[in-house]
Amino acid sequence: MTNFLEGRVGEQKFQDGHLFPKVLVPAHNSHKEDFAAASMAVEENRAWIEQELHECGAILFRGFGLKSAEDFNSFVEALGWEEQPYKGPAPRKNIVGRVWSANEAPLHQHIFFHHEMALTKEFPSKIIFYCEVAPPEGGETAIVQSHRVAAHMEHNFPEVVQQLDTNGIFTHTLLPKNDNLGYFLGKSWQSHLQTDNPKEAQRKVEDGGGKLQWMEDGSANIIAGPIPATRSFQGYGDRKVWFNYIPAATYGKNEASLNRLICGDGSDIPERVMEESGRIMDEESVDVKWEAGDVLLIDNLAVMHARRPSKGPRRVLVAICK
Ligand code: FE2
Repeated sequence: MTNFLEGRVGEQKFQDGHLFPKVLVPAHNSHKEDFAAASMAVEENRAWIEQELHECGAILFRGFGLKSAEDFNSFVEALGWEEQPYKGPAPRKNIVGRVWSANEAPLHQHIFFHHEMALTKEFPSKIIFYCEVAPPEGGETAIVQSHRVAAHMEHNFPEVVQQLDTNGIFTHTLLPKNDNLGYFLGKSWQSHLQTDNPKEAQRKVEDGGGKLQWMEDGSANIIAGPIPATRSFQGYGDRKVWFNYIPAATYGKNEASLNRLICGDGSDIPERVMEESGRIMDEESVDVKWEAGDVLLIDNLAVMHARRPSKGPRRVLVAICK
């Protein structure tokens, strides 16, 4: 590709025959930090970028001169992928166009590994992050190739994983009656479901394939599932990905999680399975160290992401695509 050169960052890992994530920098010195040139190059090479993303799972663009949320919105438009409306419990604010703040929760909170909107029927195929302000310390976006996690788990716990695939997993998510911006899954049921009407809320959850249980304190327990622990998607051969919320329950122990997971047969997921799932993600993952102006494309059908705790200021924005 004449417009892009492959770059390197220290945290990349060599996995399955290529570097993860792929890093792209401007090919011409004269184009460094030249956002107009970058946008044009992205637009001209959409198909190639999509193919590379499919191959590598994640691409970091560095040095292309993005300075603002508006620039990022243009970059996203240049990629030409259709917008996916966000339906999830993370507190987010619309910044401009199709660009949102990634999560309004305090920066010291670790956000566990997940595929975006994995509990819903319509999850995005791609996520695009942009770093407007890089944190002084910590705050990496961690990414992990989900098929490596699934393969490891199947190898270590063949029977449990088979059972979780057959019976599925029910994921309970407790949505408070008031927005709680102090927690990274803290949206109230009204904000999450975009209605104040309990009947309407119930209908929306049921239309999405879930169940809604009203709690005594006015909060809503949304039960998604049963959803199998692993999935495979067309175009990825026989690879399976770890497309579940098991990490939510693992991290929940430390962070007063509002998520609870139960096997489809009513039993608890074995502790050792949850712990190993968290351990292998950390072992296999890459912590992408943000620099201001970076854009990180993630294939949501192949790669999970997480947020490491940081000191402020840190401003990472997001756009999600169908
Ligand atoms: Fe996310």
